[in-house]
Amino acid sequence: MTKVITYGTFDLFHEGHYKLLKRAKALGDYLIVGVTTEEYDQTRGKLNVVDSLVTRIENVKKSGFADEVIIESSPGQKLLDVQKYHIDIFTVGSDWVGTFDYLSDYCKVVYLERTKNISSTMLRAQKKHIQRIGVIGTGRIAGRFIPEAKLVSGVNVEAVYNPHPESAARFAKKWGIDAYKEIEEFYQAVDAVYIASPHETHYGYIRSALEHGKHVLCEKPLVLQKAQAEELFTLAAEKKCILFEGIKTAYCPGFSKLLGIACSGMIGNVRSVEACFTKLEGAQTRELSDRKYGGSFTELGSYVMLPIIKLFGSKYEDVRFDILKGENGLDIFTKAHFRYANGFGTATCGLGVKSEGKLLISGTTGYIVVEAPWWKTAYFEVHHENPNDVEKFSERFLDDGLRYEISDFLSMINGSNKSEFKLTRGESIAMAEIMEGFLHENR
Ligand code: CTP
Repeated sequence: MTKVITYGTFDLFHEGHYKLLKRAKALGDYLIVGVTTEEYDQTRGKLNVVDSLVTRIENVKKSGFADEVIIESSPGQKLLDVQKYHIDIFTVGSDWVGTFDYLSDYCKVVYLERTKNISSTMLRAQKKHIQRIGVIGTGRIAGRFIPEAKLVSGVNVEAVYNPHPESAARFAKKWGIDAYKEIEEFYQAVDAVYIASPHETHYGYIRSALEHGKHVLCEKPLVLQKAQAEELFTLAAEKKCILFEGIKTAYCPGFSKLLGIACSGMIGNVRSVEACFTKLEGAQTRELSDRKYGGSFTELGSYVMLPIIKLFGSKYEDVRFDILKGENGLDIFTKAHFRYANGFGTATCGLGVKSEGKLLISGTTGYIVVEAPWWKTAYFEVHHENPNDVEKFSERFLDDGLRYEISDFLSMINGSNKSEFKLTRGESIAMAEIMEGFLHENR
């Protein structure tokens, strides 16, 4: 019996897939089809797969060509499968020519002609209207957003607005997009906006974008007052628009895995969360010179509060701040101490004091440690009483990591709420409340 194996995502099952499977089956007597998991596709940069794994498997089965379906969940698996299933022929479409030649030491490798003019990528683009995104603000983070957005199929950054037309023009030229002097015209040109302007301007821009019926992805901190956050989420619901706070850590695959493990009982009950993020900045930077809204906590507080709020919830009993101020009165180093009924959290951040940027989650039977930069969670360890008992976990975090939040923002615009839990409305409101408390005490 000749055994054949092939692999694919098989998203939005199409004619190209059908023909490939038919010809793969015809190469032998028994066909095994490996279907990729969502996690595996994410790690290899396929972020917008529409169909679930179950649907994709069902569609492969329905073709009638697969004698067996397996799941492909990691790189390197193909070689093991070829040996494990005693495969005679490995086959994939001609878009992969050369890539799998290394398997020819173990079986025959056949690249089948790809069916022309059809692909899942094309169908995904046809199915969903491409979201035209406009950027408000032209600072460093806005510049990072554009190359990341290019990696997410289904969005296209097309416009920029900045009240200073020269800055907008410079930014537009650099990225090949259109600059707008009038915000009304800017709104007409886009479906959604990414707000990366100074913190205190977020509220006004979010409000006007929502009033124009635009979806909003806003950099953290979303707003600096609880009532503003509540009002904006209510407005977003009325306008049937997505309002989404861009704390990139919340959307990166490693951080989601970490939260799942922390809550799974692997370290018992979580009793303490300590998160630290420091980034030394010069005295002349916006972060350390804007008397009203600058300082460490407004700049970095969202990151360090996030794991505490995610693990203990939004209903803290008390939050207290220790603050070290610089000459102009802005906080250069801040610790926010949270007390909960069952534990406590410390959120430490600094622009003028350097410390170890670690995340430490302590539980009744062990702890989880993530070294800097934990806010780009890629690797973490679970420790227990026995120092030799260490479990290691890793996930990919690519480049600036904004692609994960952009992809989740897009899927929410397209009607999927499967990422909503990553940063809920209630969590964003709680963080705005804490920012408000901090500013009230310290300005
Ligand atoms: N395939 C094919 N002809 C097409 C599309 C895909 O023969 N027009 C083959 C691929 O070469 C691969 C298998 O079908 O062997 C599964 O491919 P998959 O990556 O799931 O499909 P694509 O449509 O190429 O998906 P995407 O656009 O997401 O890359």
